[in-house]
Amino acid sequence: MEVIKVSTASRPYDVFVGEGLLERMGELVRTTTGCERCCVVTETTVGPLYADAVEDALSSSGICVAPRVTFAAGEPSKTLDTLGSILEGLADRELTRDDAVVALGGGVTGDMGGLAAALYLRGVEVVQVPTSLLAMVDSSVGGKTAVDLRAGKNLVGAFWQPSLVVADVQTLSTVPTDLFKDSCGEVIKHAVLADPILLEELEQKPLTSEDDPERLSSVVARNVAIKRDVVSADELERGLRQTLNLGHTIGHAIEAASEFSLGHGSCVAAGLCMMAHAAFARGWCSEETAARIERCVAAHGLPVGTDLPTETLMRYATHDKKRHGSNVNVVVPIEVGRCEVRRVSLEEFRDLIEAGR
Ligand code: GLY
Repeated sequence: MEVIKVSTASRPYDVFVGEGLLERMGELVRTTTGCERCCVVTETTVGPLYADAVEDALSSSGICVAPRVTFAAGEPSKTLDTLGSILEGLADRELTRDDAVVALGGGVTGDMGGLAAALYLRGVEVVQVPTSLLAMVDSSVGGKTAVDLRAGKNLVGAFWQPSLVVADVQTLSTVPTDLFKDSCGEVIKHAVLADPILLEELEQKPLTSEDDPERLSSVVARNVAIKRDVVSADELERGLRQTLNLGHTIGHAIEAASEFSLGHGSCVAAGLCMMAHAAFARGWCSEETAARIERCVAAHGLPVGTDLPTETLMRYATHDKKRHGSNVNVVVPIEVGRCEVRRVSLEEFRDLIEAGR
C-alpha cells in the first residue's frame, strides 16, 4: 500500500493506493477521521459491485452505517435534481456534523458526493473511494466538486477537500476497457506535466486494466503525487493548478463539439497533442518533445488530433468557463516535465488550433 500525504490550506489528508483496500476501509476511516457514522453515496453500477464490501468493513470496525444512498449511474445524473435527492437522503438518515459521506464510484459520484458533503449542514466530512482510473488519478484528489447545468459541465460546485481517499486498484478490473483507455489521457497529461520517466514507461508499455496490481498501484500513486504537488501549492486554482488544464482548452472544445460522444480523456489527449504541435510550430518546445507526447498518446490508441473545423472548436472554446474576458489561458508544454500557462487572445488561440493540426 502506498500513502500519499496531501497538504492543502483547508485540510491535510492521506490518499491510500493499493490492492484489497476496500476490505480495510473500516480501519482506514477509524484512524484518519473522527466519524462515528457513515453513509455510502453510490450509483447503480458500482453500488452492487462494491458497496456491501465497504459497508461490511466499516461496520466490522464499529462504525455505524446508515442505509446507502444510490442514484442512477452516468453523467446525465449529474444534475441539481440528483444532488437534491442525495441531500434529502442524508437528511432522512439524520446524518449529523460528526458523521461522514463515503462517495463510492467514479468521477460523477465523487463530484456529486463531494458537493453534497460540502453543502449538507454547511459541510460534513467526505471520504472519497474512487473506483475508476479517472477518479483515482484526477477527480478524487484536490477537492473539486460539481454538478452540471444545461449550459455546461461542472458549472456549479465548491472546493471541498476529502478527509481521506482510498483507491483500491482491484476495482479497476470492472472498469470497461474503453473507459479505462480513455482515462489514460489524463495519466499521460500528468506524465507530460511532471514525470518524463513515467512518460517513457507508458510509451514503451501502454497502461491497461490487465496490468498487475503493483504496476497499477505505482502508476496511480505517481499520478496522485503529481496532482498533490500542484494542489498543495495552489488549492483554489489561482495559478499553478491551471497547469492541470494541459490539453483541456482544445480538449473541452472537442468534447462539447462532439456532443460528448468522445470521452473526456480522449479529448484531452487530442488537445494535448495539438497544443504540443502548436508549441513546436511557435518554437516554444522542441520537435522531439511534441513527437514524444504524440507517440505515447498513439501507443494508447487515443486520438492525436481532430477533424472538427477550427471555427467549430472556437465557438465551443469561447463558451468555456475558463475563458477570461476576450482571452483564454492555454497550458504550453515547454519540455516533458515543464509546462507554462500563457494567456492568449482569441485570435492567437485560433492560430494555435490551426498550428496544432
Ligand atoms: N482536474 C483538474 C483539477 O483538479 O484542477
